[in-house]
Amino acid sequence: MLIRIDHIGIAVDDLDAAIALYEQNFGMALVHREIAEGPGLELVLLEIGESHIELLTPVRDDAMISGFLAEHGPGLHHVAYVTRDIEDEMARLVGEGMRLIDTEPRTGIRGSRIAFLEPDGTGHVLTELVEPAPSV
Ligand code: CO
Repeated sequence: MLIRIDHIGIAVDDLDAAIALYEQNFGMALVHREIAEGPGLELVLLEIGESHIELLTPVRDDAMISGFLAEHGPGLHHVAYVTRDIEDEMARLVGEGMRLIDTEPRTGIRGSRIAFLEPDGTGHVLTELVEPAPSV
């Protein structure tokens, strides 16, 4: 089952400006920053209660969100939910007739295990499942 919102993903084209907005104007603490070589992204987590805002920006032209930014510009990109056992939740959702973009969990931010659902089945909201790393 889905437990709570892990993060809201926001695509940005100016990471420093976005960090300034969330840190200074909204008063959120920057708690994590990493380069994800696979999808070609720089990722930042800012804390809001038990949840986070995840800023995503491309670090190369063929990054995972380059097409999204070219088409839509910066803005809301995805919502991510915590689950305790991602394989169980993926199987349950497939049993509900939903389709997965990731048929196997892959490594996400902060060593989490993640999988995205096919947005055709989620009202065109890109939806991510997150099984946090045990230490987080
Ligand atoms: Co995410």
